[in-house]
Amino acid sequence: MSNEKPHQNGKDANASITAGRAGETRGSPTIIGINGVPSVRRPNTCRQTISTATRLNNYATGQQSVDNLHKSTEAKSHCSETRCKGSFMLPNVRTNTQPRPPQDVLSHAQDFIDQYYKHIKRSETDAHAKRLAAITESIASTGSYQLTDQELQYGAKLAWRNAPRCIGRIQWTKLQLFDARGITTAQEMFNILCSHLTYATNDGNIRSAITVFPQRTDGQHDFRVWNILLIKYAGYQQPDGSVIGDPASVEFTKICERLGWKGEGGRFDVLPLVLQANGEDPEWFELPKECILQVKLTHPEYDWFAELGLQWYAVPAVSSLLLDIGGIEFPACPFNGWYMSTEIGCRNLCDVYRYNLLQTIANKMSLQTTSNLTLWKDRTLLEVNVAVLHSFQKARVTITDHHSASESFMVHMEKEQKLRGGCPADWVWVVPPMSSSLCPVFHQEMLYYSVKPSFDYQANPWLAKRNGAAKSAMRKGVTFKGAAVAVKYFAHKMKEALKQRFKATILYATETGRSKQYAERINRMFSCTFDSRVLCMEDYDVVELETETLILIITSTFGNGEPPENGEGFARHIAKLVRENQGDCPKVENGGGAQAPRLDCEKYCGGQRRPSVAEHQLNNPLIESMNDQPLPLSNLRYSVFGLGSTAYPHFCAFAHALDAQLGMLGGERLLEIAEGDELVGQEVEFLNWAENIYQEACDTFCIKRQDASDMVMGTVPTAPDSSWADEKFRIVPEAEGVRATDPHMALYRLHGKQTFPCKLLSCKNLQAPSSGRATNLVKLDTSEEEKLLYEAGDHAAVFPQNREELVEGVLERVDCALSPNDLIKIECREEKDDNNKDLNNKWVKYQHLPVCSLRQALKCFLEIAKPPPSQLLKIMAAYAIEPTEAEALVKLGRGGNKYDNWIYSQYPTLVDVFDRFPSLRVPAALLLTQLPLLKPRYYSISSSPSISPGEIHLTIAVVCYQTQNNDATRYGVCSNWLGSIAESNIVPVFIRKATKFHMPEDKVAPMILIGPGAGIAPFRSFWQQRRFDMLRLAQRKGTSQDLERLGDMTLVFGCRQSSIDNIYMSEMQEAKAEGLLTNVWTAYSRDPDKPKAYVQDLLFQNAHQVFELLSRLRGHIYVCGDVTMAADVSKVIQSIGVDVAKMSDEEAKYWVTGLRDENRYHEDIFGVTLRTAEVTEQKRRESYDIRKHRQSPTQTQSRERSSDNNNAV
Ligand SMILES: Cc1cc2nc3c(=O)[nH]c(=O)nc-3n(C[C@H](O)[C@H](O)[C@H](O)COP(=O)(O)OP(=O)(O)OC[C@H]3O[C@@H](n4cnc5c(N)ncnc54)[C@H](O)[C@@H]3O)c2cc1C
Ligand SMILES: NC(=O)c1ccc[n+]([C@@H]2O[C@H](COP(=O)([O-])OP(=O)(O)OC[C@H]3O[C@@H](n4cnc5c(N)ncnc54)[C@H](OP(=O)(O)O)[C@@H]3O)[C@@H](O)[C@H]2O)c1
Ligand SMILES: Cc1cc2nc3c(=O)[nH]c(=O)nc-3n(C[C@H](O)[C@H](O)[C@H](O)COP(=O)(O)O)c2cc1C
Repeated sequence: MSNEKPHQNGKDANASITAGRAGETRGSPTIIGINGVPSVRRPNTCRQTISTATRLNNYATGQQSVDNLHKSTEAKSHCSETRCKGSFMLPNVRTNTQPRPPQDVLSHAQDFIDQYYKHIKRSETDAHAKRLAAITESIASTGSYQLTDQELQYGAKLAWRNAPRCIGRIQWTKLQLFDARGITTAQEMFNILCSHLTYATNDGNIRSAITVFPQRTDGQHDFRVWNILLIKYAGYQQPDGSVIGDPASVEFTKICERLGWKGEGGRFDVLPLVLQANGEDPEWFELPKECILQVKLTHPEYDWFAELGLQWYAVPAVSSLLLDIGGIEFPACPFNGWYMSTEIGCRNLCDVYRYNLLQTIANKMSLQTTSNLTLWKDRTLLEVNVAVLHSFQKARVTITDHHSASESFMVHMEKEQKLRGGCPADWVWVVPPMSSSLCPVFHQEMLYYSVKPSFDYQANPWLAKRNGAAKSAMRKGVTFKGAAVAVKYFAHKMKEALKQRFKATILYATETGRSKQYAERINRMFSCTFDSRVLCMEDYDVVELETETLILIITSTFGNGEPPENGEGFARHIAKLVRENQGDCPKVENGGGAQAPRLDCEKYCGGQRRPSVAEHQLNNPLIESMNDQPLPLSNLRYSVFGLGSTAYPHFCAFAHALDAQLGMLGGERLLEIAEGDELVGQEVEFLNWAENIYQEACDTFCIKRQDASDMVMGTVPTAPDSSWADEKFRIVPEAEGVRATDPHMALYRLHGKQTFPCKLLSCKNLQAPSSGRATNLVKLDTSEEEKLLYEAGDHAAVFPQNREELVEGVLERVDCALSPNDLIKIECREEKDDNNKDLNNKWVKYQHLPVCSLRQALKCFLEIAKPPPSQLLKIMAAYAIEPTEAEALVKLGRGGNKYDNWIYSQYPTLVDVFDRFPSLRVPAALLLTQLPLLKPRYYSISSSPSISPGEIHLTIAVVCYQTQNNDATRYGVCSNWLGSIAESNIVPVFIRKATKFHMPEDKVAPMILIGPGAGIAPFRSFWQQRRFDMLRLAQRKGTSQDLERLGDMTLVFGCRQSSIDNIYMSEMQEAKAEGLLTNVWTAYSRDPDKPKAYVQDLLFQNAHQVFELLSRLRGHIYVCGDVTMAADVSKVIQSIGVDVAKMSDEEAKYWVTGLRDENRYHEDIFGVTLRTAEVTEQKRRESYDIRKHRQSPTQTQSRERSSDNNNAV
């Protein structure tokens, strides 16, 4: 016979607590665990002497482990040398409600903050020291301090991780926090608890959550939830002593009745919530039915089971414990997980002091119950558990069986052993109450100790010392004054209540501003429902990632599959996290940016996507990560929208990289990544994604969605209102004496870039006069700008000005009461408040532009040469007098194919728009607030600072082309402006480091430099730098041996004809003669005397030499210019691997990937610059076909209907 027997209700000081809790507090397996009992095999060693490393045996596997974690605890064990209290129900109950002494708070705080900063890998940094100092100061002055949101979230998860009685701790990183520290009343407590239950229930797909109410202050103002569980059945004691309902609830049911609640007297009446705010008398609230999911119990084989009328609720939410984090005590912190079936089947329904149904059901099963020898109890218990599992599964409500729970706990223990050197565990609670020895946990020795943060038992509130009033009231049996509150709360209200509870962070990275615009638009949509914010990746503190609930990523891709510059830091961080967490992540290529693992773009971008590691893991909750780390982002939901162009081989690669990496880190992808192709339908794809992700996010968080589609269609990027309206903005003259903002300061304010004023020294066309095209060598004087430093390979960014005829053309069609040369400011009306949208007369300065005139704004700060964004056209429609024009503008303003086609065929400037719509005149304020900013243009620097100190040289192909429909000539803004300004004019410049395109540190390494046309730009700086290096070496040592230490440089250049556009020909010849360049190979594509050749053809012709340089001599390859050319070169290098080294295609691919990983394959991509029209046309057609094919018919129809697919404008 086993010694297993149920716990007796203790009659000690906590008797009433015990009676109230028996089984139930234990009945929330995910958090608290379950009621196991000591077994004969359990070593009866007491737990008080655990200060040395303790060896733990597993008798099933024969394995041993050593627990060291317990050494970090200072908490005393409740056992003594002679007595083991291992089976006590409540060994440690905190009865003291007095606040902790400040010195204790401080020591707990230090310990916790150290843990937190170690966790975020900022231990012993300034931030860590500052935080400790602030806490110390706060404790010194107030006796306490506040945890930050991140600390609270981390602490709550850790408390769960540390809960020794919980078998479901493998899930500890997945805990949704409802931060209710700011609430003040019982009604607010009730509201948030309804939200908590709605979120946790999730139509049966249960999710773990915790609500944290305000912390203890002086001990007189505690917030408490009087219920032991948020949902629990009442127990009505009958005159004969029997109980209808749950006997474990008898005492609390009486309390509720005394407070004024009246139950219906049934077996399964849900008790009201009894809530105490700020130390005041408690109030009771009936839980709305919509918050309580219940499962009717049936049996898969016994039809009569349903007739028993049994049921149980879906969400076990423990509400009586105290959360202790960093010395701060939270006496009210209800949390939930989901059920393990034995909690209901064995404990709640069959314990003799609970529903006690064993005999009834055995009778129904016609079992012989007079003798234990028939094992009737075991057989009955088994069938009750079968019924529970069957019913929950049938109702699609999350539940786990005790075998699976035990197995997952063993996995958790093993992980914890590796990660922390131990895992506190209470064997008595962890071992399931049925079939114990069939579960692996039974055979595992465990060590029970307490580490902080923790969930602790505390005295029932009506017994708490300070609740004198409550206690006497209970004794007298009177109700509290004003305590009875019955609130009706309906489902739709519940969803309303969830609004703004969830944070959403929208992160963008952008080069030309489109992603930012999209991010702001979707933020407007989300802010209707979520507590949302929008941030650039570079302004985001990546430490926050772990505590985010929902992240939307909107990013473009640049270079050749790289992040935009302001996404690089984020990319690096994510890549580092992946490396730390995924030991062995898939071999990857492109997309992650500097030092990021390179993602295999074919895998993510082309054809069918294979499931990511994360997807695989999501389907397999036991495998959290490859190296046992808990995945850091397992609480995160996310979705990614990528902006890109199919003209680039690595379409949206950075977005794909992030999408995959967030998944690998445990994030839950709410929606498949969406891509917006700049060539076709970017806007339409964005709108589709925005709508879908909004819907999905609302569903996920059980929030009532608003009709917010107008918000995302809206236009105003930073205005206080979501739609532009004439009466909301005005232009007024600047006050007398105010001076125009210094142009460099103005650019700094607008773009956050510190520019340097450089004088134009000269601008010389390098092409022959007969060419018809121009490539200028632009020299800038930087001699007065000491801080302007660069290296060969870096980029210079230039802020250009718009052509005069465009500026004047726009001015002619703008309504402005002031002269275009007057200094002006924009003002907008301040709204009264959120609820009252009436406008008042208070005008406030609209901080968009610096102090300038209208003419200067159009010339220097705003984009007027590019087609206006579709949303601007939509607003402009209101100003067209002619109805047909207004209608056409509205259609274009919807974006979509019509807009795309128009842009593509005509590439209209703002002036062209005015020409096309003659009745259109617009207010100046509209343009000043809505036009995109004029962006800087990047140029690869063509000089070496050592050879040309005080100067920057640029090689600039002048952009000038016919529109697709051959109607007009278009001029690139910057390339033409630089070619048109007089010497000594000021050019605002800043430097962008291109560290990945610098010359090799190892100067012996040979280099192959490939740059057709303007792509030669950076290589001029290389050969100049080489000249300097050689001179320096010669000066220092002067021996020929030293000169040999510089590696070979082979330049591969391409142009049309030697006599026309072989720019720098003489300089190259000189450099070769000096020995700076070892080889110069030139490909002529249109030379009448030569066969057409491109740079990649020359590489192939010299395949053996190329392979020798790259492979045996470990050389570097540099490719600069057009993206198609760069992709072709990459393919040719691969084919050289196949041809020369007889590699397979796959091996050659990996060889090239290896060159990139070793930082020996460098690319500097200008964009689609060679044969732009032809390439764009082809890619556009392909992209359009793919998109049409991919879109579901309904999506296509609905979007295209709204964008009106009629091309005629
Ligand atoms: C990292 C980097 C380095 C660069 N280095 C250099 C360099 O060293 N030298 C250099 O010359 N350029 C370089 N560029 C390109 C340069 O930044 C500018 O894009 C280029 O000078 C054009 O700018 P723009 O203001 O004159 O033209 P914009 O006013 O910006 O107009 C260019 C736009 O016109 C459109 N367009 C151009 N040609 C056609 C066509 N045939 N058909 C249809 N549409 C067309 C395209 O949409 C294109 O984006 C570099 C770019 C990058 C990203
Ligand atoms: N952002 C922009 O829009 C932008 C930026 C910079 C330059 N541009 C424009 O692009 C043009 C480029 O001028 P450029 O002087 O740099 O070059 P280019 O003179 O047009 O071309 C240089 C050489 O490259 C060849 N070429 C074309 N496609 C190639 C490919 N896929 N692979 C390898 N070689 C290829 C050309 O041959 P072909 O005989 O076949 O042409 C030519 O021999 C300028 O007219 C300028 O207006 C535009
Ligand atoms: C120099 C350059 C390089 C680019 N490289 C890529 C690329 O590798 N992959 C891609 O999909 N798109 C690429 N693009 C296209 C941009 O991602 C696209 O224009 C996007 O809409 C820009 O969004 P943004 O304004 O938010 O930066 C590139 C564009 C330029 C100008």
